[in-house]
Amino acid sequence: MSGRDVVISLRGVEKSFGAQPVLLGVDLDIYRGESLVVIGPSGCGKSVLLKHLIGLIRPDEGSIRINGAELTEMDSSSLYDVRKKFGMLFQGAALFDSLTVEENVGLGLVEHTKLGAKEIAERVAESLRKVGMEHAARKKPSELSGGMKKRVGLARAIAMNPEIVLYDEPTTGLDPIMADVINRLIRSLQKELNATSITVTHDMTSASKVADRIAMLHEGRIVFEGSVEEVRTTENPIVQQFVRGEAEGPIRVL
Ligand SMILES: Nc1ncnc2c1ncn2[C@@H]1O[C@H](COP(=O)(O)OP(=O)(O)OP(=O)(O)O)[C@@H](O)[C@H]1O
Ligand SMILES: [Mg+2]
Repeated sequence: MSGRDVVISLRGVEKSFGAQPVLLGVDLDIYRGESLVVIGPSGCGKSVLLKHLIGLIRPDEGSIRINGAELTEMDSSSLYDVRKKFGMLFQGAALFDSLTVEENVGLGLVEHTKLGAKEIAERVAESLRKVGMEHAARKKPSELSGGMKKRVGLARAIAMNPEIVLYDEPTTGLDPIMADVINRLIRSLQKELNATSITVTHDMTSASKVADRIAMLHEGRIVFEGSVEEVRTTENPIVQQFVRGEAEGPIRVL
């Protein structure tokens, strides 16, 4: 993969919470314009890893570079500028219940841009249209189903035209058809926005549909990187157990 443009680079990233080590030295390069999926069992640290990329969690050790700039050394104002490059779909959507759908989607535009009310309204409408949720603009999150909330979360993630979009478990808890809708959206948004997308999931169907490349996180490290086909055919026993969904194997079930 030499010669490709690295947009995010992690080296030796370590993170513990109290006595619990979660990341034990993560090394990973993410290339511009690709769709990378990080797979791994529940609780292995996928959400924690994703939050490191936008500086919501700081590592104990190691380096995280975004477009060559060291995230771990940034003050809050530089971090703020870096975050504007990102859109993130949080696990569970994380919408504000007191705001309407359109207010949720427009929040970043109101707070982080100098756009006027009319331009913001247009951008919000366009983002909602991309995810097929324009009809729900005036609703509150409590009036929406899980799949609808995910789509609104997606609209919010893309409203700022991000360079990099992070998706945390975008299909978990959705029926297979809605999951497919979301998977297709992730793909079309990557192409339409020319964005780099990073998805973490334990849903192998979603991973196969969304990924240009798959990395597996296990016991605090990236233990495998490869194409969808390589994930399917590898003899790596950790990857095999995960892909086949077997209780027996090197992955210990807690
Ligand atoms: N802010 C925090 N404080 C303390 N412990 C945390 C914190 N965030 C995560 N952890 C712990 O880190 C570990 C990894 O959590 P994480 O949410 O990253 O798992 P995950 O791989 O995303 O799991 P899932 O697939 O279920 O979403 C868990 O044991 C969790 O309890
Ligand atoms: Mg998670």
